[in-house]
Amino acid sequence: MQEYGTVISTIDSPTTRKFSFVVGKNARVRRGQFVEIAVDDGKLIGRIGDIRKTNRYFINPESVNNVEKNVGMSEAYPTWEWEYLVADVVSLGVYTGKSFQDADFPPSPGDSVREPEKDMLQKFFGFDPDGIDVGSIKHHDVAVSLNMTRLLQKHLAILAMSGAGKSYLTGLILEELLDRQPEKGQIGIVVIDTHGEYAAFSQDKSYSGRSRVFYTSEMQIGLPNLSGGQIAEFTSLNLVQTRELSKYMSRMKGMFSITDIMDAVEEDKKANIKTKEVLLSALESLRKLGIFSSSDYPPLDEICQAGRLTVVDMSDTINLKKKQIVVSYLAKKLFDARRHGIVSPFLLVVEEAHQFAPERTSRERALSKGILQTIAREGRKFHSSLCLISQRPVHLSTTILSQCNSNIILRITNPYDLKHIQESSEGISKDVVDHISSLQVGNALIVGEAVNFPLFVRIRRRKGKESSAGMPLEKAAIEYMNKVRGKVKDAKAFA
Ligand SMILES: Nc1ncnc2c1ncn2[C@@H]1O[C@H](COP(=O)(O)OP(=O)(O)OP(=O)(O)O)[C@@H](O)[C@H]1O
Ligand SMILES: [Mg+2]
Repeated sequence: MQEYGTVISTIDSPTTRKFSFVVGKNARVRRGQFVEIAVDDGKLIGRIGDIRKTNRYFINPESVNNVEKNVGMSEAYPTWEWEYLVADVVSLGVYTGKSFQDADFPPSPGDSVREPEKDMLQKFFGFDPDGIDVGSIKHHDVAVSLNMTRLLQKHLAILAMSGAGKSYLTGLILEELLDRQPEKGQIGIVVIDTHGEYAAFSQDKSYSGRSRVFYTSEMQIGLPNLSGGQIAEFTSLNLVQTRELSKYMSRMKGMFSITDIMDAVEEDKKANIKTKEVLLSALESLRKLGIFSSSDYPPLDEICQAGRLTVVDMSDTINLKKKQIVVSYLAKKLFDARRHGIVSPFLLVVEEAHQFAPERTSRERALSKGILQTIAREGRKFHSSLCLISQRPVHLSTTILSQCNSNIILRITNPYDLKHIQESSEGISKDVVDHISSLQVGNALIVGEAVNFPLFVRIRRRKGKESSAGMPLEKAAIEYMNKVRGKVKDAKAFA
């Protein structure tokens, strides 16, 4: 492995936390690179935090000025011979050959600094050859293959500003999950796709056999599967009204619709007029959503199957309440089924997660927050994982975000979002946060459970067909115009 240089003695280093080394003549070092030093206990691994140049000829301002008055410094002296590169390194830990421990003893001045072996870095970060390959370590030709359990079991959040590459990365992770061999463990994947970006899977030859798309307009919630209480959660009924509703519901037999319940309310001569009115108007507002019916569609076994992807394409719906009800019902159904061992372990991917689990809003405006919170808290015991995607982390429920033990963060510049992320995830230091705002598209920071140490990665290209998100603006504009023509009326009605 390449020799990088030699540890030097400075005023305040080497210590257990940091050291500096002078970079060898032919060595190529970059900020962010990892380095290795042989120490008594094993191998010390560090990350280059900064690189600077020194030159003793230029230290004293008076002499520089005086010489420059007559001839240039470099004509008067061989100044180039005294220019050195010094790299400042943060120590991360020591690999003993079996395990990792804190660096509790400093390296010595004079120690030689090298490029770490590939397998050393893989062990150091805790990669898994059978894991999910998302790209490579920046500056090193080492594949970043994340263990599936560590990445997903305690939930994953993918956070970044708009256009930074969240959906691209999510698509890539889904490809990796779909490509897993059954003997390595496959899970069912359900995507809540607010913008219709994942429908591309069903048009891609490699994945179409294992992917299915359902539109919100096709989805149906079977009323007989719901209790009065559950329906009341979708409305603003009070306790008494909810009890009344449950009474009517319990009298319903076989298949029935919202209109049937409304008829029963209407026909009840003994009921309080006020309560009747409230119930009827609440039921009417639910009926108008057009998602309640006499049975569920699609059935559970079409939604969640090991090694298969189900996309719930919500791009046909602008009604947030309707979207939240669908997500709430679907998430609850999946989680209940999983708790009873009826479906395979699953990953529920939620795009625009802040719309479904907002931080600060009334209960009626956050119908899906409760169940997502429950899965975030208890899901791991039942192998029900969440992958939450958001471009406004500050509006995403802190409770849920703090349960996402793995975070992949792409470019974010909004200081409020950065602060929110720093507060909700442990182990992100100030210098790492500063780096997030200067990330380029295709670069990401991984922190938390998935890796032993925060890690900057270069996200690789996807194997499959990319979503229309990547198409040129002209083409997108034309396609959009054609697609939307039929929907213009709806949009006007909504406004
Ligand atoms: N790793 C990558 N390599 C190459 N291109 C990428 C990569 N990541 C993203 N891109 C490109 O960047 C663009 C934006 O990516 P993407 O749609 O994933 O952003 P986003 O974060 O989901 O944005 P939004 O918040 O608006 O949904 C796309 O055109 C995509 O092709
Ligand atoms: Mg996106």
